[in-house]
Amino acid sequence: MSLKNKTKVRVFSGTRPTGFLHLGNYLGGVKGYLELQNKKDYDCIYSIVDLHGITSPYNPKKFQEQIDKVVLDYLACGLDPKKCHFLIQSQVPEHTELAYLLSTIYPVSRLEQLPTYKEKKQEQPKYINMGLFYYPVLMAADILLYKTQFVPVGKDQSPHLEVTREIARTFNRHFGQTFPEPKAYFMPLANIPSLTGQGKMSKSKEGSYINLVDSLKVIKDKLTKVPTDIGKGKKIPDKGGVFALLTFVELFEGKKKRLEYEKLYLSNQGIQYKLLKEELAKAIYEELKPIQERRKFYEKRPALVNRILEQGRKYASQIAKQTIQEVKEKMGLIKK
Ligand code: TRP
Repeated sequence: MSLKNKTKVRVFSGTRPTGFLHLGNYLGGVKGYLELQNKKDYDCIYSIVDLHGITSPYNPKKFQEQIDKVVLDYLACGLDPKKCHFLIQSQVPEHTELAYLLSTIYPVSRLEQLPTYKEKKQEQPKYINMGLFYYPVLMAADILLYKTQFVPVGKDQSPHLEVTREIARTFNRHFGQTFPEPKAYFMPLANIPSLTGQGKMSKSKEGSYINLVDSLKVIKDKLTKVPTDIGKGKKIPDKGGVFALLTFVELFEGKKKRLEYEKLYLSNQGIQYKLLKEELAKAIYEELKPIQERRKFYEKRPALVNRILEQGRKYASQIAKQTIQEVKEKMGLIKK
């Protein structure tokens, strides 16, 4: 670690390489990353966690493409290699090394009880592999390897962060103070509604999301399919398609616009969804346009993207090596 960063607050987060990022990833994730990279005293490492990605069914022939898409989307959103570090997890082998070392101090029974593991088992009953079970330990290693203090994540990651904190505490107790206990940095907009009107926007739910690379036409088509009602009523819906639309109006056209629509909804006149959707599609596209332009810039410069990733790998590597050295010494694996 270079001296000048010793006093900085370390931030680490990871994204699984599931292909194009959508509005939910952007508003609930990347925007938080942007906020943190712009803080002067923060040293942020953002990673594509490919080793976590392979714990669910995937296509190895398409995997590199999926990783590239996330890298480009990140850069397109404005994550700036001058202000933060990008990293592909598997390129720093110390992640898996630390995961193994930490796994020896964590009980199997705790991992078996994790709600995230139980859900995954139901989701992919034919793919319950050791890596899936190990997932939280590898995530703890990702975070602790850099002695991270803040982890920007969604609320669904709380159980994993609890595991990380427990592992840090246990390690410190057994082998001496080594790791800070990392805290979650929850994103204010973590719950972006699905276009289907049910649940969250999610990659695994067809018809639920708008990708950052979608054209105006695609956005319009997607919004057209959002289920609505007759446009008026006694109470503003607090779930379903209309709720989702109003949420997006507020996010992309402002609170005032939302209140105008709400007034219409409660009046005899009612909302004309066709118009609302057209206006909303334009507003969303306006926000995505500069992102798409920046994406094209990087798409045309693969050598530059590789250089950025190489710098990230080098930076992360030197910190990782120091931590592994310290951990191995403390665990009695090498002489001091
Ligand atoms: N489990 C996280 C998710 O599914 C991804 C992840 C892996 C991560 N390692 C991490 C997030 C380290 C934050 C820090 O979203």
